[in-house]
Amino acid sequence: MRISILGGTGPEGRGLAVRLAMAGNAVCLGSRDETRAIDVAIELSSSVGIHVIGLDNAAAAKDADVIFLTVPYQAQSELLHSVKDDLAGKIIINVIAPMEFVKNVGAKALDVKAGSAAEECRDIVTDSKVVSAFQNVSAEDLENPDLELDEDVIVCSDDPEAKTLVMDLVKSIEHLRPIDGGGLSNSKYVEQITPLLVNINRIYKIHAGIKITGI
Ligand SMILES: NC(=O)c1ccc[n+]([C@@H]2O[C@H](COP(=O)([O-])OP(=O)(O)OC[C@H]3O[C@@H](n4cnc5c(N)ncnc54)[C@H](OP(=O)(O)O)[C@@H]3O)[C@@H](O)[C@H]2O)c1
Repeated sequence: MRISILGGTGPEGRGLAVRLAMAGNAVCLGSRDETRAIDVAIELSSSVGIHVIGLDNAAAAKDADVIFLTVPYQAQSELLHSVKDDLAGKIIINVIAPMEFVKNVGAKALDVKAGSAAEECRDIVTDSKVVSAFQNVSAEDLENPDLELDEDVIVCSDDPEAKTLVMDLVKSIEHLRPIDGGGLSNSKYVEQITPLLVNINRIYKIHAGIKITGI
């Protein structure tokens, strides 16, 4: 599968690139700056022993059928408007967990008018199929190819076919289990788990993920 990761030069994008490339996909990192994308792709390819390429975000969006979105929430709207035409008909996997860091409090979920980052995304790229997933998987764990992942990925979407494809993609990454999280309106609950995990990580000095029991 040809996959591009917009904002792929950050920790979460790099981590996903590692695992998706290890699972046999052709992966492209997108950036506002093509040179940065190429540099990070070369560095990641040589340090992990995979092959990923780098392009600017618009070219990366054109180049793929499945597009991950791994920019900070504050950057989502502007980025989506700038590449909207290149995303038409494609599957967008939204990994964004809107949060801020408050002094003496820690990570805190941001209120999103649309309900969630994924729903806001759906309202902008109306011709794309938006799926929400991977918000609860630590970038550090993803980027370490020797670390055995052991967690669940909740997948939400209003498009059943796109959801199935993304659940299969999750399954193709060793030791990740996809969980059907229902429609996109459930994404806000998944997104809001992430600041909780960040605060738990600080307390226990770990990279926590989630597991659903009883399935
Ligand atoms: N880090 C984690 O462990 C983790 C876990 C789960 C989910 N997430 C979610 O995944 C997303 C990415 O996380 P991250 O830690 O990788 O974030 P990040 O490092 O802050 O940002 C990722 C990339 O986004 C691009 N970017 C930054 N500001 C931008 C702007 N104003 N406009 C356009 N592009 C911009 C940058 O790429 P260029 O400068 O190269 O364009 C940057 O490398 C976030 O929404 C986060 O909530 C993160």
